[in-house]
Amino acid sequence: LFVSSSIPFLSSCSNKDMNMGGNMNMGQPVPVTEGNFSALFAIPPIVGGTTTLTAQNVTANSNEFGNVKGLGYSSGGLLGPTIKVNSGQSMNVNFVNQLNEKTNIHWHGLKIPANMDGHPENFINAGGSFNYNFTVNQRAGLYWYHPHADGTTGKQVFQGLAGLVIVNDSEETALNLPSGNRELPLVIQDKRISAGSILYAPTMMDQMAGLMGQYILVNGVYAPSHNVETAKYRVRILNGSNARIYNLALSNGASFTVIGNDGGLLATPQTVNSLTVAPGERADLIIDFSSMGLNSELFLISKTFIGGNAQGKQEFKIMKFKVTTQVVDNFSIPTTLSSIAPLTESMATKTRNFEISNVDSGSMSGMMMHTINNKSYDANRIDELVPNGAVEIWTFDNTNGQEPHPMHLHGVQFQILNRTGGRGTLTALEKGWKDMALCMPGEKVKIIVPFNGYTGKFVFHCHNLEHEETGMMGQFQVS
Ligand code: C2O
Ligand code: CU
Repeated sequence: LFVSSSIPFLSSCSNKDMNMGGNMNMGQPVPVTEGNFSALFAIPPIVGGTTTLTAQNVTANSNEFGNVKGLGYSSGGLLGPTIKVNSGQSMNVNFVNQLNEKTNIHWHGLKIPANMDGHPENFINAGGSFNYNFTVNQRAGLYWYHPHADGTTGKQVFQGLAGLVIVNDSEETALNLPSGNRELPLVIQDKRISAGSILYAPTMMDQMAGLMGQYILVNGVYAPSHNVETAKYRVRILNGSNARIYNLALSNGASFTVIGNDGGLLATPQTVNSLTVAPGERADLIIDFSSMGLNSELFLISKTFIGGNAQGKQEFKIMKFKVTTQVVDNFSIPTTLSSIAPLTESMATKTRNFEISNVDSGSMSGMMMHTINNKSYDANRIDELVPNGAVEIWTFDNTNGQEPHPMHLHGVQFQILNRTGGRGTLTALEKGWKDMALCMPGEKVKIIVPFNGYTGKFVFHCHNLEHEETGMMGQFQVS
């Protein structure tokens, strides 16, 4: 069995971890502990495309825990600033690694040259620096950045390294969507916090299910509350968790509107009562507080869901909104948001199938391994050769699997054609352009990908970061 030597947590299997029985117990995540929702909601600072990011140890006030040690991209706390650029502009990021281990930055969702993309082998050693310099040429949307060095990704993201990239364009600006204090970015992440630190020490069960924490943080703050007006708000969500899937809903059962996702605006708004958002996915929502009374409260919650195994079994609150100001809001959601030409199967010149059902227990190393087509990640192996300009169908087959796998491709945006098994039809979040495709156990998801970006070597992988770290990643070469 292939064993990657670069995986840092060769945890031995205690009997407790190995207690899977004949019927594999797919991991019982620690139940979520709700806070008291008294902390002030915080929004990461906004910077332009020319900036310095310094990966470093930080002490953050995450509320209710006092000061917590973690990682950030500035001295201000967990996470990094939100980088805001217009489509067509260039980014010039002076990146400094002040950690005591390797790291790098992957610009998740951006179509940029391979040598700027943060491939797991393109890392910056402790004390080093690198200049990320590229032009952003794509639709308005919510993208993000995070470390991606082989073997340290899961740990560094969990400990706080992540940030948002907001791309604007004229099409989106013309819609006059809620902005200013009515545009709220939310990075939702679960953490384990112990003895004043964000603890990353996955057991074998964590490697199998992915590492989940009992505390839900929003923008680095545990259990925050935000005062709102009686108006429609644009709430732009990133699930920045390593492994936890959220089934977002409002505590009063009210519907809300999905206007965008990973790759920007949808063609038309979609009204839903709940929305499953997997690690790495983004959800651009309009939440309407206009009919709520003064001083009333509303929680963003995660409802139970089917298919996520143990992690779908709990409902919990994520953050609180309190209506404190009465205003007249004349905004109404446009009936058309964007024009998106759907890609059809007949456009594709090749179909590739990826079996993502298998979980192997690496008996020699005493750790879990995850595979794609029965192969674990090998930096020295190119898995797929793709001609530049090709349109291809890729299917991710989790029909016989027991764990959810949110699959991600670097360097492209794609469309989801269909899902068979499991949840069946596509959700509101799965229309339009995507860079993530969630495959619950029993599901097979078919995507269509125009490889119309840059040539070079890119990775594709499960965005459950423990799955990625234990092998569930491959490489494709576009040439
Ligand atoms: Cu957000 Cu390769 O990842
Ligand atoms: Cu996975």
